[in-house]
Amino acid sequence: MLVTEKNSAEKFISEFNPNLSPNQQLLPLSAKINNQNHLEIGGCDVIDLVEKFGTSLYIVDEQTLRTSARQYRDAFRKYYPGESQVIYASKAWCCMAIASILASEEIGFDVVSGGELYTTTKALEMSNLGQEYIQNKIYLHGNNKSIAELELAIDSQCKIMVDNWLELENLAKLSAQKQTPVSILVRLTPGIECHTHEYIRTGSIDSKFGFDANQLEAVFTFAKEQEFINCIGLHAHIGSQIFELQPHHDLAGVLADWYKKALDYGLPMAELNVGGGLGIRYTESDDPPSIDQWVETVCKSVLKACQERDITLPKLISEPGRSMVGSSTVTAYSVGGRKEIPNVRTYISVDGGMSDNPRPITYQSLYEVVIANKMTNANTETVTVAGKHCESGDILVKNVALPETKQGDILVVLATGAYNYSMASNYNRLARPAAVLVNEGEANLIIRRETYDDLVKQDLLPSRLA
Ligand SMILES: Cc1ncc(COP(=O)(O)O)c(C=O)c1O
Repeated sequence: MLVTEKNSAEKFISEFNPNLSPNQQLLPLSAKINNQNHLEIGGCDVIDLVEKFGTSLYIVDEQTLRTSARQYRDAFRKYYPGESQVIYASKAWCCMAIASILASEEIGFDVVSGGELYTTTKALEMSNLGQEYIQNKIYLHGNNKSIAELELAIDSQCKIMVDNWLELENLAKLSAQKQTPVSILVRLTPGIECHTHEYIRTGSIDSKFGFDANQLEAVFTFAKEQEFINCIGLHAHIGSQIFELQPHHDLAGVLADWYKKALDYGLPMAELNVGGGLGIRYTESDDPPSIDQWVETVCKSVLKACQERDITLPKLISEPGRSMVGSSTVTAYSVGGRKEIPNVRTYISVDGGMSDNPRPITYQSLYEVVIANKMTNANTETVTVAGKHCESGDILVKNVALPETKQGDILVVLATGAYNYSMASNYNRLARPAAVLVNEGEANLIIRRETYDDLVKQDLLPSRLA
């Protein structure tokens, strides 16, 4: 457990234990303080890593990632007597190495664009996981899939979460033209409220995602009439960074009601997808349920809802993103300038910011930070950590207690695996950082740092301007 009375970064370090739920930890499971007073992750000294790979740098702990995947997978097997499949919501961080690691733990994938589908299938091909994996374990999401994306999905034979009427009609046409059957799950808006930021709340009635309840019977009738559409399941997702368990329990009842109705329409229903949403610890005061507790609630709620309605147990799908990858990663920055405004605030600036972590400026998200080369030094001042972008709102962390810092110190922001790299931009033409995977003292680059040449690679200069 976290020892909170310490006045230094030591308080964030837990005794290593693979049974800890990664989403409840601030630092990756393998994090330690070494005898040089440096932060060590995956057996690698963070100061050595930044000397070798530069800053800003995402550092991904393979052990934490695998632990999250195994805890999800094994908990579903423990609590659900029917078939189950955990699929990773790739939007949290879609890259080939993460896809390959998760696939090796039997995790499937929720992808929301042609680009995520392409990246994931490429990783699977390179990991020698072929067509069968794609057909059984990849699901395409999205509220405005293009015709090209639908065709890519039909051709690769993955399953499709249908979001709206236009898409359903387009799929009916395309599958008939191609004479290729397509398996779909219908996404519905369950009308369940939860306490999270409004931009990441998706289950309430006023949401751009999914069919309203009053459209569903017409959807079932239409789907039933289409020769090449197999409507095999239902899907709903209530939101993200959720700490409550009750909304997930309530969702099971809503889904089971519609699942039974779809069976009554004669649809070949076999799968129920309850979405993702489990929150992670970003700050000391955050207290999310563990992966095991979340899975137990989901499984027992679905089991009970099915038993009460006399439904044969469907294959139970869940699609965690943030809680799969969030706690596996930290971002290391180099400290630069300092601005002291007497009686107001002291700013310290780092060499990244809203381009590598847009969550603070988008959702007012909070983070904890440590100084990787001063781990046991006492906190002596309160500072605000500013990014380097031309934007006053580019603040990574406000009013945080830290040891005194100077130029070149390595500041590390914790729990940055989810919705950081995947939402990164080149704002102000900053090159996107590298990502390095660490495990048992080995460090492998999994995303190379962009160069200035990468930044101008897509630019074209018409000859009349040259
Ligand atoms: C449809 C869907 N499934 C799964 C997720 C993953 O959610 P989380 O990262 O909170 O687990 C999201 C993210 O918002 C989503 O929109």
